[in-house]
Amino acid sequence: MKLVNIKAMLEKARKNNYAIPHININNLEWTKAALLAAQAKNSPLIIGTSEGALKYMGGLKTVYNLVLNLIEFLKITVPIALHLDHGSYETCKDALKTGYSSVMYDGSKEDFLLNLEKTREIVALAKTTNATVEAEVGQIGGEEDGVIGNGEIADPEKAKKLADTGIACLAAGIGNIHGIYPPSWQSLNFEVLEQISKKTGIPLVLHGGSGIPKEQIQKAIKLGISKINVNTELQQANAAAVSEFVLSGKIKQGKNFDPRKLLAPGTKAIQLLVEDKIVEFGSENRA
Ligand code: 13P
Repeated sequence: MKLVNIKAMLEKARKNNYAIPHININNLEWTKAALLAAQAKNSPLIIGTSEGALKYMGGLKTVYNLVLNLIEFLKITVPIALHLDHGSYETCKDALKTGYSSVMYDGSKEDFLLNLEKTREIVALAKTTNATVEAEVGQIGGEEDGVIGNGEIADPEKAKKLADTGIACLAAGIGNIHGIYPPSWQSLNFEVLEQISKKTGIPLVLHGGSGIPKEQIQKAIKLGISKINVNTELQQANAAAVSEFVLSGKIKQGKNFDPRKLLAPGTKAIQLLVEDKIVEFGSENRA
């Protein structure tokens, strides 16, 4: 099966009040786990690669071929999109050339007019390969040197201008944070989310999907979130499972030093958590 872009799957999700998981992959095991989870739950899935993960995994071509070959080898029949996460202008162009079915151009640190102009250019380029584009308005927050930032809350007027470029979906800063949410964090900004959703009429993306309480996830989906990015929670699940394997002494038994045995508990934990996310986000049986 070939890769699909994210337009149809996200529009269907928006219309029917659920969200598609965007799973960041980090290695071969992660990719297998995510694909097997989607197949087991009969859900569409977006496989995301950040620029850091691309560097680690051997670049765009390696990842593109890995994902395509695993889809064939594992007999995956549900719709799978391969998406560049937080791409620069140049990496977006390279990803489209390589065969990625979707890219996120992250111009959120640029001056807004430049963000708009470059997003427009990437949209035009993506059209030539039937690929889709995600853009970003406002900024996803994070914690830096102990200073807790709320991220730049997105401006609905700017969101509308980006939506009008022909993007498939829009990531908006609504108080969401990449990584672990600090204990002082309270809530997503639902008021701004609702305004942006009404103004743009397109599927919206929730970055920093790890660690957000379930009720807030459900409310966000109702208000227009159709794609939820998850990475940190899966990293934590993998680390916990591998740690348990080592610290419990299982690694000392038989040939458990074999990397295929050592990494297996982590891979299983990733698969089970992706399956849970599919159920939580409502995309089960929506393939
Ligand atoms: P988390 O690592 O917080 O789950 O965020 C993932 C993400 O938004 C990738 O773009």
